[in-house]
Amino acid sequence: MEEVRVGIVGLGNVGMGALAVLAGNREKIAEKLGFRLSVAAVCSRTVASKRLPEGLGPVFKTADWRELVAHPDVQIVAELVGGAGVAAEIIEGAIANGKSVVTANKELMAASGPEIWNRAIAARVNVAMEASVCGGIPIHSVLREGISADRVVAFYGILNGTSNYILTEMEKRSAPFDTVLAEAQKLGYAEADPSADVDGFDARSKVVLLAALAFGEKIAPSDVFMQGIRRITPLDFRYALRMEHTIRLVCGARATPDGLILFVRPALIPVSTILAGVHGSYNAVWVKGEFGADTFYYGRGAGPLPTGVAVVSDLMRVAREIRSGSPERVSPFAHERLGETKPVSIEVQKRAYYLRFRVDDRPGIIAKLAGILAGKNISLEAILQEPCGAKHDLPFVITVEPTSEQSIRDAIAEMSQLDFLTDAPLALPMETAL
Ligand SMILES: NC(=O)c1ccc[n+]([C@@H]2O[C@H](COP(=O)([O-])OP(=O)(O)OC[C@H]3O[C@@H](n4cnc5c(N)ncnc54)[C@H](OP(=O)(O)O)[C@@H]3O)[C@@H](O)[C@H]2O)c1
Repeated sequence: MEEVRVGIVGLGNVGMGALAVLAGNREKIAEKLGFRLSVAAVCSRTVASKRLPEGLGPVFKTADWRELVAHPDVQIVAELVGGAGVAAEIIEGAIANGKSVVTANKELMAASGPEIWNRAIAARVNVAMEASVCGGIPIHSVLREGISADRVVAFYGILNGTSNYILTEMEKRSAPFDTVLAEAQKLGYAEADPSADVDGFDARSKVVLLAALAFGEKIAPSDVFMQGIRRITPLDFRYALRMEHTIRLVCGARATPDGLILFVRPALIPVSTILAGVHGSYNAVWVKGEFGADTFYYGRGAGPLPTGVAVVSDLMRVAREIRSGSPERVSPFAHERLGETKPVSIEVQKRAYYLRFRVDDRPGIIAKLAGILAGKNISLEAILQEPCGAKHDLPFVITVEPTSEQSIRDAIAEMSQLDFLTDAPLALPMETAL
């Protein structure tokens, strides 16, 4: 049987997961392709200590990625190292050697995807990056192929499994953020430095990539409004539930008459919405099309085997192209041809907001806050207060009718000067239209 041969750089979670799929499903993959997909070479810094799965056949092993990308037997290079440093050199090296690339690297593709793609197209090779967003959910294929005939008007997703695990545990057990984060770190769900997950950086890279695919725009990470989940408390879940809402780190993009609004932020969403039912480390993406209406995608957002399936499916796609002599010709960052919706600041968006205060209780507090809101033309909708004995750190919530993000920011800035606040006010949008 004829074969296409791949080289894998990076033998960590994803690299070993991809090798497990390639070895464990070797026969079925060959049947589906009509030819064999074999592993010609692997590379990692500590390759000598790595135990490769049985059934791969003879494999060239090296600790030097340059040897792998230049190896004459390697036709496709999988970059599974991560980060924006050496990974960029590996991808450049592969393209310079006329080899297609498969990558799981959201960070690099979000920062430099358009340039990498332009180089690949000039070299008549492909860059497949399915595993870079939502691990096991084939959302790139959906946007580039499955619903490519549609015109996407919005997508909303839960794109970071660690944050979703933390929020849904807080919701379930009424446990504080720090406690659940520490547990998640012990279980291996969160990194020792959790910032990429809980402050929104990881999800922001994913929004950049999905928005590029969905809208044909060149999106920079700085175009995406980003806010993490550190300030969410069990109390916020209790107030949200009183209004039949919950809180999720909602990641999305929405085409508006003003432009494209892109965001990663905790938001109140109705408990009845499908995204509220996404629990634990699962990911989901809900896409709204002008013609085909709503579609929803759900699955494991990370993990060696789900991500390994995404990587190997990309290797299969690129291998088919090599056999047919027809590489991908249009960049997913096809802004020159498709761009019609430019990113705009989130300040223009109009939403209802949830405002949570903690105060040293005294007469006249509500009147002061209401006065500031009225001064910004913001209409108050409701005031909620859970029974609480702590007069010196009393929490309560004000919800307001739809207003602009800019007005809310101005109001919060003014409120933050008030001497009775024991904590800065927390403002969360209410995504009631989900
Ligand atoms: N983990 C997930 O579930 C997941 C899901 C979706 C996407 N991703 C993406 O997949 C990529 C890989 O993530 P991961 O979790 O598998 O990372 P990881 O476990 O840290 O593995 C990284 C691998 O790269 C190797 N490496 C680092 N520098 C190298 C160099 N200079 N030359 C050769 N090899 C080098 C490391 O080698 P040694 O082991 O020898 O030190 C290690 O095997 C990242 O872009 C990540 O964002 C991960």
